[in-house]
Amino acid sequence: MKNIDSYSHTRGESVYLDDIPVVQGTLYAACFDSQIAHGSIEHVDITEAEKMVGVVRILTYKDITGQNQIGGIIPDEPLFAEHHVHFCGMPIALVLAESDEIARKAVKKISVQITPLPIITNPREAFAKGSLTIPSRKFVLGNTEDAWKQCAYIFEGVANTNGQEHLYIETQGAYALPAEQGGLKIYSSTQGPTAVQRAVSKVTGLPMHQIEIDVTRLGGGFGGKEDQANTWAALCALGALVTKRPVKYSLHRMEDMRMTGKRNPYTTDYKIGLSSDFSILAYEATFYQNSGAAADLSPAILERTLFHCTNSYYIPNVTATAISCKTHLPPNTAFRGFGGPQGMFVIEAAIVQAAEKLGVDAKIIQSKNLLQTGNELPYGQKVVSEAIPCWEKAVKTYQLAELEAQINQFNNNNKWLKKGLSLMPICFGISFTNTLMNQARALVHIYTDGSIVISTGAVEMGQGVNTKILQVAAHILSVSTSRIKVNSTNTYRIANTSPSAASATADLNGRATQIACEALLDRLKNVAATELNVLPETITILNEIVYANGEPTDLSWEKLVITTHNKRISLSEHGHYATPEIHFDKTKEKGHPFAYHVYGTAITTVTLDCLRGTYTIDAVQLVHDFGTSMNPLIDRGQIEGGLVQGIGWMTMEEVVYDAAGKLRSNALSTYKVPDIYSVPSVIDITFLETVQDNLAIFKSKAVGEPPLMYGIGTYFAIRNAIRSFNPASCPAFDAPFTPEKVLLALYPEKANAYNQ
Ligand code: MTE
Ligand code: HPA
Ligand code: MOS
Repeated sequence: MKNIDSYSHTRGESVYLDDIPVVQGTLYAACFDSQIAHGSIEHVDITEAEKMVGVVRILTYKDITGQNQIGGIIPDEPLFAEHHVHFCGMPIALVLAESDEIARKAVKKISVQITPLPIITNPREAFAKGSLTIPSRKFVLGNTEDAWKQCAYIFEGVANTNGQEHLYIETQGAYALPAEQGGLKIYSSTQGPTAVQRAVSKVTGLPMHQIEIDVTRLGGGFGGKEDQANTWAALCALGALVTKRPVKYSLHRMEDMRMTGKRNPYTTDYKIGLSSDFSILAYEATFYQNSGAAADLSPAILERTLFHCTNSYYIPNVTATAISCKTHLPPNTAFRGFGGPQGMFVIEAAIVQAAEKLGVDAKIIQSKNLLQTGNELPYGQKVVSEAIPCWEKAVKTYQLAELEAQINQFNNNNKWLKKGLSLMPICFGISFTNTLMNQARALVHIYTDGSIVISTGAVEMGQGVNTKILQVAAHILSVSTSRIKVNSTNTYRIANTSPSAASATADLNGRATQIACEALLDRLKNVAATELNVLPETITILNEIVYANGEPTDLSWEKLVITTHNKRISLSEHGHYATPEIHFDKTKEKGHPFAYHVYGTAITTVTLDCLRGTYTIDAVQLVHDFGTSMNPLIDRGQIEGGLVQGIGWMTMEEVVYDAAGKLRSNALSTYKVPDIYSVPSVIDITFLETVQDNLAIFKSKAVGEPPLMYGIGTYFAIRNAIRSFNPASCPAFDAPFTPEKVLLALYPEKANAYNQ
């Protein structure tokens, strides 16, 4: 089945926040934000801006009717700066004006006097100065201290990964309308309608039931709207309450890039120990996460880094420490993979370093240590592993030996062009790591004409979750998909939602939909049984026809529905689902936090221009563990999109803050994302169809985040191409591998001279 949005998307008819028809009297908001990363505010001057024709009101922290606080996990983030600024881009004032243009002109007339304070942008410096968002976390398996003594080889190093701009096509925004009795209706471009509702409640002082959040769809979220949509909704809400007029704020691209946080950069020390036959016996890592100026989701992201620090490998002795370091950058946040990719890059770097030093192929060490069913991960969960089937199927399907022979031949025949290859296995845990978040609800109504409407907590952001939910209902009720509509996500229909995140949205909300539909089906079957004078167990409904004892009857779906209503039996159901079996004890850092894991292996080949340092990605060929995909078209799209996003993070996307904490890569002229010319020439996806009895919806495993990690393979394929040109080159593990860095790595002697 196609994505149900594909028709309106391609015609430009899909409605996003900025497409909602504006109500008469709507005011437009624009932020005056700090240009200084750290300092104390002496004076804010809004007099000139206030005088402008068309400016209705300018808000500062003094206008907040509730608390000046939007922190999610930790209350450490003011909405408006009061006496201090903590990052460039921190909101200081909000202009409300009759037009978007006037609002932005007025912003330029506001001035502020700030006494600068010392700025920290580097997480290691923050750590040295004791600037942390939460106490450090540590996962321990076995005993590394003892294990080092057993190791034939030990290697140590440092690996860094940089941030990543979400670059959702639809920027952040909100539209708040005053409602009856002092309430608010807010349209928000958010992954977390309830998170927005809570933040607005806190900032305005209104109880949650006065605040309705509605989300039709997002033009992408990628984690950037899990928590960071709250700011704009809270600002608009406050504006609407104070002026009693609707307030809309749809960020311009540069505002969005400047004011919002990104993927957390990490710098990590690692140590890896191997036996003489290349079993990894011990691994230690200390992760320094750059959280930015507030905790935001960083504590949860930090935890997922630990959960994925051994990627797809079994390592019997692990000590992994993670430290969330507070700096003066915009608060960093969720981004596809949620800290997992940052952890997985480091173990891959450690393995590659060991392989290079030992003069073996990295794949020898990788394949030797892949997870097997029953292996225990550092947090105590024993896995049902598909790691080896994925790896072996990739090696076979894509004829690895021949591929390598071709590459060797190419490299022998070419002086200035070199090819490189890598294998990248992945293992990603599915469930929110915070157990309580793994719950969802669905509301299903059947109308008297037989049509059906479904509301859930799921937010459609391009990942196709609404299509999957529709498929679930159509399958359970055995009706045509054209009878079903999936409604917007609305906090008055579905309360207390978890954000659409952790790749678990279809699993959680799909199950809730399944539960609601099954209850309705039971009710309908009972009515049919009475009508047909048979036992309910003998009734089935297939393609909108009621069958009794396997024989079709005259009772159609429409007739059954109206009969049920006429008997005064409810045609509505509210389903609730909470993932069973999962638990985690933070005091012991042990448990069973994930419903299941998703596996895969990617083979990446690149061609490097050794004169220029530029490269093209020839192919990414991968085997992915889909379970039993309920929508191969959508799932394929998720793999392609995730992979390319991962390649962007690893190669060309370079978030640059200067020493003053100012974002230099603040527009698409200075921040390069993959386009059609830079994606792999070939992306080939092989489905590993598995039927394990996991907790995925209809055994169709979650697919949203895992493929991003295949992009890590590109980094190491480029490295291999460099070393085939210059075997002495041993570049630092420092992603992204931009063509500049690649060029310097090709000619380390010249790079050294250049650096002096
Ligand atoms: N795909 C599209 N097109 N747009 C998005 O914003 N977000 C990703 C992934 N795929 C995203 C996407 C992220 S970060 C997550 S967690 C999952 O989708 C969320 O949706 P799911 O839980 O339904 O997989
Ligand atoms: N993944 C994504 N988002 C989250 C998580 C998680 O595990 N926990 C809280 N928000
Ligand atoms: Mo995704 S980073 O869990 O929104």
